[in-house]
Amino acid sequence: MDHELEEIPHPQIHPFSDLHSLREETRPIIERGEGIYLIDTSGTRYLDAMSSLWCVTLGYSQPRLVKAAKKQLSDLPYSHSFRGRSTPSVNKLAEKLIDIAPKQITNVFFASSGSEANESAIKIAWSFHRSKGEQTRRKILSHQKSYHGSAIFSALLSGSALMHEHQNCELTDIIFTTTPDFHNEALSEENEEDFSNRLVTELENLILRERPETVAAFIAEPVMGVGGVIIPPKNYFKNIQKVLSRYGILFIVDEVICGFGRTGNMFGSQTFNLTPDIMTVAKGLSSAYFPMSAVLITKKVNDGLTMLSEQTGLFSHGFTSSGHPVGAAVAMETIKIIEEDRILDHVKAVSNLFKLKLHGLSGTASVLNVRSVGLMGAFDLELPKTRHSNLPIINQAGNKLMNMAQKHSLFIRAVGDTIILAPPLIISESEINILFERLSDAICDWQKCYS
Ligand SMILES: Cc1ncc(COP(=O)(O)O)c(C=O)c1O
Repeated sequence: MDHELEEIPHPQIHPFSDLHSLREETRPIIERGEGIYLIDTSGTRYLDAMSSLWCVTLGYSQPRLVKAAKKQLSDLPYSHSFRGRSTPSVNKLAEKLIDIAPKQITNVFFASSGSEANESAIKIAWSFHRSKGEQTRRKILSHQKSYHGSAIFSALLSGSALMHEHQNCELTDIIFTTTPDFHNEALSEENEEDFSNRLVTELENLILRERPETVAAFIAEPVMGVGGVIIPPKNYFKNIQKVLSRYGILFIVDEVICGFGRTGNMFGSQTFNLTPDIMTVAKGLSSAYFPMSAVLITKKVNDGLTMLSEQTGLFSHGFTSSGHPVGAAVAMETIKIIEEDRILDHVKAVSNLFKLKLHGLSGTASVLNVRSVGLMGAFDLELPKTRHSNLPIINQAGNKLMNMAQKHSLFIRAVGDTIILAPPLIISESEINILFERLSDAICDWQKCYS
């Protein structure tokens, strides 16, 4: 029998939200943004230590981005890119992306979201293998705990059961390998290099077990963001890439979070010496001022697509917004600002204080496994024991701290018992100090809840 629920107070179905608790609790309604601050309808100014969803890299009131969007909207709000048509802003962005991307990248396909970019990357990988007569190469390797999006296939690529089970999605053709998470996955006797060697051997054995001629690609984030800012151990990707090329498997690097400065270089691939065959970008591409993503590919992959097109008459993939002129104008201006305002140098400079302050938190009893690269960082909460038992409290400890932080006008993110920080890249040193003052106060309050 249908279980009838009370009337829901507002009509929006919120993404990744507990729709049940939303019926009882009120959440801030964000009305404006200034620099790294978000201001709600009651006038509270929240320091946004997450750049919303890792994406508003240039802060909330960047006038050049607004101007670029307005100009393009009045010149030409939309025209498509199908059948070879294009617009000046999309052409310019394509050239600029190839210019700044790792040198093996020669071509770009546009979309609107990270999920679309990753799904396009998978179709491109399949098409590439088909062009070589290797139709059997369908399986995709991915990391446990990875996040690659929320549409059907990108959700399947994501290594969290939550992403599959709730919607009855069925896993097909995706093989998960161990998360390169030294803190949580290494054996007690392993150092970073031993751990990484074990994982590389595990991946090679997995490929041999599945049969290399059935494996199309390996998709990986340079630093796993949503999984908890998991920084790859020494030599991990260097040796993984050797295994992939030994078996003709394409390497897809998901730069949706790391791209455009988050790790201190334009791309995470540069920070970690990765040589992708295919690279996906979104979020920071337009500082999230417009939904915009892209798939960047090498000449080898592009030759495959072109060859297949010659045989079939069509690259049969694309979206209405593949190459949106407004998104392209905003993205172009974002890249110009990153270059002209020397944002990468700024990230490298302030990330020292960010790291210092983050490590300073481990002075408090509850903070473990502090890690950071550039302006992304995380720590795990050591869960306090309850007064009456020796069992740690594992329910919602991260969420509780996230709510406490909000009371101190600070937005952070909790993934299980891991707390994540990824502030806008324009954050100043004095703002970093304010961020950590608020966070320390929130941790104190959080600890009091358990004493
Ligand atoms: C690494 C990574 N890839 C892909 C995505 C999906 O992007 P979107 O939400 O724009 O579809 C995300 C979103 O957080 C992400 O973190």
